[in-house]
Amino acid sequence: MAKKLAVIGAGLMGSGIAQVSAQAGWDVVLRDVTDEALARGKGGIEASYEKFVAKGKLAAADAEQALARITTTTDLEAAADADIVVEAVFERIDVKREIFQTLDKLVKEEAVLASNTSAIPITKIAAATSRPERVVGTHFFSPVPMMQLCELVRGYKTSDETLATAREFAESVGKTCVVVNRDVAGFVTTRLISALVVEAAKLYESGVASAEDIDTACKLGFGHAMGPLATADLTGIDILLHATDNIYTESQDEKFAPPEIMRRMVDAGDIGRKSGQGFYEH
Ligand SMILES: NC(=O)c1ccc[n+]([C@@H]2O[C@H](COP(=O)([O-])OP(=O)(O)OC[C@H]3O[C@@H](n4cnc5c(N)ncnc54)[C@H](O)[C@@H]3O)[C@@H](O)[C@H]2O)c1
Repeated sequence: MAKKLAVIGAGLMGSGIAQVSAQAGWDVVLRDVTDEALARGKGGIEASYEKFVAKGKLAAADAEQALARITTTTDLEAAADADIVVEAVFERIDVKREIFQTLDKLVKEEAVLASNTSAIPITKIAAATSRPERVVGTHFFSPVPMMQLCELVRGYKTSDETLATAREFAESVGKTCVVVNRDVAGFVTTRLISALVVEAAKLYESGVASAEDIDTACKLGFGHAMGPLATADLTGIDILLHATDNIYTESQDEKFAPPEIMRRMVDAGDIGRKSGQGFYEH
């Protein structure tokens, strides 16, 4: 089985993917554009391992070995001998396409190139390479060490072999996979959460129910761990507005049209937990 992984982007998701992969025995090279970003990413991984050790969920020696399997670099060429590359940079198609174009020239022919995008069509990213059949979506969830799911996304040309390699990788790091067979905007998960948040925000905006009651309805009525408006605050209203706008633009399906309140909240800076105010005060 493939054992060398390159992760492009050492932010929240990239460092999480590096963390679980190193723990599962992968040799990981973590690449970002600045040493500061790499130090932040690696520091976060170290702190997270320490927490698992303190809780008795990871042996100190295993944490130490896992950490030693992660090397950091600002040089994209370090990805050249990877068996799998997972890209987790900003959710911008131009940035992602440029990275895939460079990786295509650099990485060995049989390597699989994966993107952790939550809403950009994999086909658009794959088209920047000469090997779209080797490109796939591996959509992990945050926080990566805690969340069980990896949504595998087939681009228009993704081969069965590539999908199988991506599944093998995700399962090797302890995740359960679902497969998205058609490359629709927002895949399955972002589409579902967008539809739910849009409807919840509309109900709240029109005074049908309070934010607390909308969330309580979903928690107690449907067994959701968290209500949609609390989820929106956690994810960031700005992030969800962007994702929902993309899905709406592509699908032209009214159910994804973001309500005015989401735009005004973003304009006002009330984007959720990270600003201290969203649908709730934090
Ligand atoms: N945050 C989430 O909850 C979440 C969940 C699932 C998927 N995603 C997706 O994962 C991806 C990463 O999201 P994130 O939250 O980790 O972002 P983030 O902002 O925490 O990290 C992005 C990192 O990419 C780096 N970067 C930018 N350009 C780069 C380049 N050319 N080469 C290498 N590194 C570069 C940045 O310096 C930064 O460290 C996005 O596509 C996002 O949509 C995010």
